[in-house]
Order: sequence, then C-alpha cells, then structure tokens
Amino acid sequence: MKRRVAVLGATGIVGQRFVSLLADHPWFDLVMVTASEKVVGKKYTEAVKWVIEKPMPRKVEELTVEPLDVNRIVEEKIDIVFVALPKEVATTVEPELARKGLVVVSNASNMRLEPDIPLLNPEVNADHIDVVEVQRRNRGWDGFIAKVPNCTTAILTLTLKPLHDEFDIKRVVVASMQSLSGAGLTGVPSMFILDNLIPFIEGEEEKVETESRKILGTLDKDKILMNDKFKVTASCHRVMVLEGHSMAVFVELGRVVDVEEVIKALEEFKDNKIRGMGLPTAPEKPIIVRREPDRPQPRLDRMEGNGMSVVVGRVREDKVLNGVKYFALGHNTIRGAAGTGVLIAELIVKKNLV
Ligand SMILES: NC(=O)c1ccc[n+]([C@@H]2O[C@H](COP(=O)([O-])OP(=O)(O)OC[C@H]3O[C@@H](n4cnc5c(N)ncnc54)[C@H](OP(=O)(O)O)[C@@H]3O)[C@@H](O)[C@H]2O)c1
Repeated sequence: MKRRVAVLGATGIVGQRFVSLLADHPWFDLVMVTASEKVVGKKYTEAVKWVIEKPMPRKVEELTVEPLDVNRIVEEKIDIVFVALPKEVATTVEPELARKGLVVVSNASNMRLEPDIPLLNPEVNADHIDVVEVQRRNRGWDGFIAKVPNCTTAILTLTLKPLHDEFDIKRVVVASMQSLSGAGLTGVPSMFILDNLIPFIEGEEEKVETESRKILGTLDKDKILMNDKFKVTASCHRVMVLEGHSMAVFVELGRVVDVEEVIKALEEFKDNKIRGMGLPTAPEKPIIVRREPDRPQPRLDRMEGNGMSVVVGRVREDKVLNGVKYFALGHNTIRGAAGTGVLIAELIVKKNLV
C-alpha cells in the first residue's frame, strides 16, 4: 500500500526536487502540495516557476496548491510530510504536525541538534532513527520529526564515515564552493554573483562543524551523543555554479595510511548502514572515486547515482596534517536535500514506523 505524502513549500527549489522525485515513486503517493498565500488555490503548474532539468511530472500539474494549514493536512490523511519551508515557518508548523500524529521529514535547520531528533544521512547513521521512540515519549507526540542534514554536511559526512571507521579521524579542515541553488529559488541576485564569488554564507560554517559530529555520533539509550573524538573547521563560499556543492577536504588521521588504502575504504564503504535494505532511492555506490586529476566537476559529475552519489577525486597524502586531502562533490538539492529526505522516508517505511 502506497503512503500518502505531502510536500510543504513545493514551489521552492527543494520542494520542486521533492515533487520530481516523488511523482512516480513506488512507495509514495504525492497527493498534496502547499506554498505561500500568494499562490494558494492555483494549479501547481501555474503556481510554480519550474527549474528542474526534467519536465514537470504530469501527475502534479493539476494538483491545487493548498494553504499551510495543519488541520487540512490531517484531514487529507497524509502519512508523511516532506518539509521544504524556511526555518522560521517550519519551527512552528513541524511540532504541530508531529503532535497530530504525522511523520515529518524536514530540510529546515530548526531542531537539528536536539538529542532526541534524528539527523539522518542514512548510509552513515540509519541506526539513529530508533531515537524517535524516545522523542515520542519525551514530547507526548503520536508522530515524530526526522531531519535531513545541512547540504554541505550531508556530502561531507558521507566521505568521512569510512575514513573514521577505518583510520580514526582526528581533525577535519574543509573549504566549500557552494552552488547558487543552495540559496533557494530567489536566493542570490545575478548582480551579486556574476563574475564573482561570495566568501560568506550565513550560519553555514557552524552547521558543518556541529552537525558532522552529531551524524557521526552514537545513539545512547535515550539520546544521540555528539562524536567528541574529532573536530571540524569549515570555511564556506558561494560560487557561480547552478547545482552541486564542491569541497576541498583535509583530514588528520590517527595512523599513517597509504593513499590506495584510503581509496579502497571510500570505494568499498564497508559499514554502509542501509546496504541490502532495498530502498529505491539508495545509490548502488554512495561514494565514487575518480582518478583523473581534473575530476569531479559539478557540471559533469553531480548526477552520478541519480544525484545521490558523492564523487571524490584528487585523493592524496597530506604531509602537514599527517593524513589525506581530497576534493568532494555532491548534488546539493538531491543528496544534500530532497533525495536524502526521500531516502529517510524509505527507511522509515522499511522500519515500519509509519
Ligand atoms: N536549497 C538547498 O540546496 C537546500 C539544501 C538543504 C536544506 N535547505 C533548506 O530547505 C528549505 C527550503 O529551501 P529552498 O532552497 O527550497 O527555499 P525556497 O526556494 O526559497 O523555497 C521556499 C518554499 O517555502 C514556501 N514558503 C515561504 N514562506 C512561506 C510561508 N510563510 N508559508 C507557507 N509557505 C512558505 C515558498 O512558497 P512560495 O514559492 O509561494 O513563496 C517555497 O515553496 C529551507 O529551510 C532551506 O534552508 C535547502
């Protein structure tokens, strides 16, 4: 039986990705879309400025845009709500939805660090989903909230997980080059970014530095503990790329390693926590390593694994940090947002939590 799902904020850039990924999904039936008051009551096709490279799915063209009204969502007997709303809006609506029994899978950054809220990058920490039972008890909710990590953090932590498992990470230094779509549909005016880059993204560095340690943390019996074995320092920058966040990553490791050993650990990724579960959105290879000196590149490599794989290149020894350095690329609105959201929902279904 297909689960009935809704996308809140369906006209935005992440919302459009959700719509595109959910329209023909084998486990989910997309029956409801919401947006802001100015387009409520319009057909989806009239309300949205479609920017996804694939055509708008026929099935959603005729959906009417609904208001962001918790009671309406409950009336529609929705099972899972995908949230692609600004943080300020999500902060009030998400707890209401969970209280009324809905499963909320959210991209907004509110509550990401709370110890009873799972912050999931499924290949890395699918086991953290079990904290939702504690969350329900703590908060008296029938439903629950699961969070998608910050986009840069989702891409980074996928590459860190096999390295931490096998070589014991001590320190991570990361410099990101983040695409325009990461700032939302109307995020960065062309006058500010053409022929330019912007060396600041508000709040981003703190998110990368803290969320990485929660994702690579452990589930104690009633909370998720941050990993205190390593630290991350980040510098985040907006560049003139449409989709795909790139990053230069420098990692200090607990022991001396050979570069080939590191490549093997990334390619094999032994402790992939969802391997064999049969989740439709899980890529066959979560990490792809390229050996050419000039790859990965956003335009050429961001759609690997239907946008769900992270592509790593230029893996080499770092003699200053006694570890390795590499370049990583991931699709920010798929791996870093809607794709991971759908993968989380698939995990929730597989675990019979909805
Ligand atoms: N872009 C990324 O790569 C990315 C990655 C990870 C996480 N996120 C997070 O995902 C969320 C969505 O980001 P985005 O980039 O998709 O933003 P966006 O393009 O600006 O879209 C925002 C969506 O929220 C709706 N909305 C705004 N204010 C509303 C209100 N008061 N009531 C009801 N609906 C409202 C908008 O509707 P209208 O179109 O009608 O205004 C639109 O559908 C944010 O929390 C963001 O931080 C984004």
